[in-house]
Amino acid sequence: MQHPTLTRRASLMATACATATTLFPPARLMAAPKPLRTGELVTGRKISIAAVGSGGRGKFDTGQVAGENIVALCDVDFERASETFNSFPDAKRFRDFREMLVEMDDQIDAVMVSTPDHMHFPAAMMAIEMGKHVLVQKPLTHTVAEARLLAEAARRHKVATQMANQGHSNEGTRLVKEWIAAGAIGEVREVHLWTNRPIWPQNIPLPQERMAPPPTLDWNRWLGVAPFRPYNEAYAPFKWRGWWEWGCGAMGDMGCHVMDASYWALELGAPVRVSANVDGGNEFSCPAGSEITYEFPARKGMPAVNVKWFDGTRQPPRPEALEADREMPKGGQIFYGSKGTIMAAGDYCESPRLIPESAMKEMVGPPKTLERVPDGHHGNWLRAIRGEIEASVSNFDYAEPLTEMALLGNVAIRSGVPFKWDSKTLRCDRPEAQAFIDKTYRVF
Ligand SMILES: NC(=O)c1ccc[n+]([C@@H]2O[C@H](COP(=O)([O-])OP(=O)(O)OC[C@H]3O[C@@H](n4cnc5c(N)ncnc54)[C@H](O)[C@@H]3O)[C@@H](O)[C@H]2O)c1
Repeated sequence: MQHPTLTRRASLMATACATATTLFPPARLMAAPKPLRTGELVTGRKISIAAVGSGGRGKFDTGQVAGENIVALCDVDFERASETFNSFPDAKRFRDFREMLVEMDDQIDAVMVSTPDHMHFPAAMMAIEMGKHVLVQKPLTHTVAEARLLAEAARRHKVATQMANQGHSNEGTRLVKEWIAAGAIGEVREVHLWTNRPIWPQNIPLPQERMAPPPTLDWNRWLGVAPFRPYNEAYAPFKWRGWWEWGCGAMGDMGCHVMDASYWALELGAPVRVSANVDGGNEFSCPAGSEITYEFPARKGMPAVNVKWFDGTRQPPRPEALEADREMPKGGQIFYGSKGTIMAAGDYCESPRLIPESAMKEMVGPPKTLERVPDGHHGNWLRAIRGEIEASVSNFDYAEPLTEMALLGNVAIRSGVPFKWDSKTLRCDRPEAQAFIDKTYRVF
């Protein structure tokens, strides 16, 4: 059953993926859909893994699971993927993930998706519908509607899932949650999150010049479900982050990392109102900087809280509690409590401290109550596939609403209007904002 409140466009996308007919032609490439294929636990042998997107971050992701059986590697650019290909010479190589999944179906237990953001959903949805366990890079998807559909499909197909927000496996993320739960800084009513991204071009006009794609790059497949657009070196690799058609800007790059500890520790759930102030940007190119305010109501014994996000040209105010001789980190998180302040420098909540440092030195405890992740973020997913743990730490039941929060910030940026959000019905109170909750898809 699809989500009853999703718009027709997103529902069509899900149906297309599920039945594998209209969205991904030609039909001979598609998996013969078997009703409700569910993920099977893998025990007593290595896990057979396929990768979609093998260069770039895919190189790291495959390296993290190199002890398993890497059976298939897909990339639209064999040159960019060459190092990974060379690391796994026995893995079969593909340019199209649909061909790979259909041809290698019986030999694949699990799929990792490390493509640019706009292709996370199509590849992951197809894999899930085929009963494959999935690890998907962050942000989980390109739109809010996609995130919701993907999480629902994962539940339906009972597959082990993990979003690659690796900071969620860190000690620091657990410490913040334990300190806040123990009342170390009292009630938290304001959080500041920030990043030095974008570190790639944004706030630029759409290039008009036509360029030939590199001979090794299959540009049509790179574009995938996105509208057709002639190749330009301003788009790929890596720089797609700054273009709305494929990336999610600074928020997409860092939101699911930098927001993670506050999302978990404060049990934020869904914001009720989101607003943004931006510097520049246009219909295609993300802004030079943004400041986003998420308003969360009182919940689970905690007071209402405003979470503020800053990137690029917009940066947070320096906290009064930070000693004058200490530099403001380039990215991080600050939790303002009624009794104290936590600051975590860096992108992944590696080393949270109470500020000033004297407060940190005075803090006694709190007890470590949360389970740690000894096998790392990818290892944690592998353990879930083996049935050694019930679920991975950033499985889609967790990662979906976190991604939803991040992407709602982009909805505020792109629509230019503040809006109220109803997470249950996936509705904004402003049509300008609602227009960005999902999108249309190109048949490629
Ligand atoms: N978790 C992290 O810390 C982290 C770090 C870097 C990147 N990422 C994420 O990884 C993903 C990829 O980012 P990147 O910097 O590696 O990008 P990239 O431009 O290097 O692309 C990654 C690889 O995917 C290939 N590719 C592109 N489209 C494809 C398709 N349709 N099918 C198969 N292969 C395709 C590219 O050719 C390239 O080899 C993004 O979602 C990004 O957010 C996460």
